[in-house]
Amino acid sequence: MNEKDQKLFNRIRELAKEKNAIILAHNYELPEVQDVADLTGDSLALAVQASKTDAEIIVFAGVHFMAEAASIVCPDKKVLFPVPEAGCAMADMLTARELVRKKEELPGVPVVTYVNSSAEVKALSDICCTSANAIQVVKWTGADEVLMTPDRNLARWVARHTDQKIHYWDGYCPVHDALTVEAVSKAREAHPGALLMAHPECPAEILDMADAVRSTSGMLAFASESDAKEFVVATENGLLHQLRKQNPDKQFYHASADMICDDMKMTTLQDVLDALENEEPVVRVPEEIRTRALRAVRRMMEVPRDAG
Ligand code: 13P
Ligand code: SF4
Repeated sequence: MNEKDQKLFNRIRELAKEKNAIILAHNYELPEVQDVADLTGDSLALAVQASKTDAEIIVFAGVHFMAEAASIVCPDKKVLFPVPEAGCAMADMLTARELVRKKEELPGVPVVTYVNSSAEVKALSDICCTSANAIQVVKWTGADEVLMTPDRNLARWVARHTDQKIHYWDGYCPVHDALTVEAVSKAREAHPGALLMAHPECPAEILDMADAVRSTSGMLAFASESDAKEFVVATENGLLHQLRKQNPDKQFYHASADMICDDMKMTTLQDVLDALENEEPVVRVPEEIRTRALRAVRRMMEVPRDAG
């Protein structure tokens, strides 16, 4: 870390202590932002942490739907979101109005919505899921058919693990969906002893090649528990920082250098410091939407980790 970053880092930690603030960072954030955080994790872990914290202020380094999720589960806390423009292209692929229309086409079919979605879309859903629990959540509904939104790749992945009929919205993550079999084959040829870990947002043909399909935190657990020493990683490349940090004796290679989510790279140390100093920008979900969205998020949190 250079001298300037070190100063920012120290000031952020001081202020966080002074203000009783907790800094949460997603596994794709810039390395220095992950390092300054109290906790890093996948979408599920961060939402759970947000719901449990005693801190008065939550600083969320991630994308908009994640900060919204924190505000949904803890309305009495100030949720600071340093860069309001940091969004998720997949979440933007489904509007509340589109979901209302889709539900009319499928009356009575429960809606399972990936957390990568707006609060309005969550409010129209029966239950949420993340990449860490999607299969368990869908099975837990006990319904013969469900509508999964907004990620088609996650929905197709779940469909392979259940007899339930899965309808899905045709959204996708541009970062994961663009990964090709050619790129992954090339990475595997370069590292023949490596295991392939892939995120369920990748296309089905990539998931077919994978040794493990996991959420970002699921990949961290898989890598540390595995006896293997080398891994090719098919997800946003920010995860490599945490993988290397937690497993210094193992080697990690990206499946493609192009797997960068620009929105996840928007938040800098300076942004985190500015947010803490000014106590803004704040994310707050309107109460009427929040209470309905909370119902869907809470239901997800009640699903046992080993369900299904
Ligand atoms: P995780 O919940 O697995 O961290 O994934 C979030 C995400 O945005 C993946 O692109
Ligand atoms: Fe959204 Fe994809 Fe970025 Fe994840 S990697 S935040 S799904 S655009």
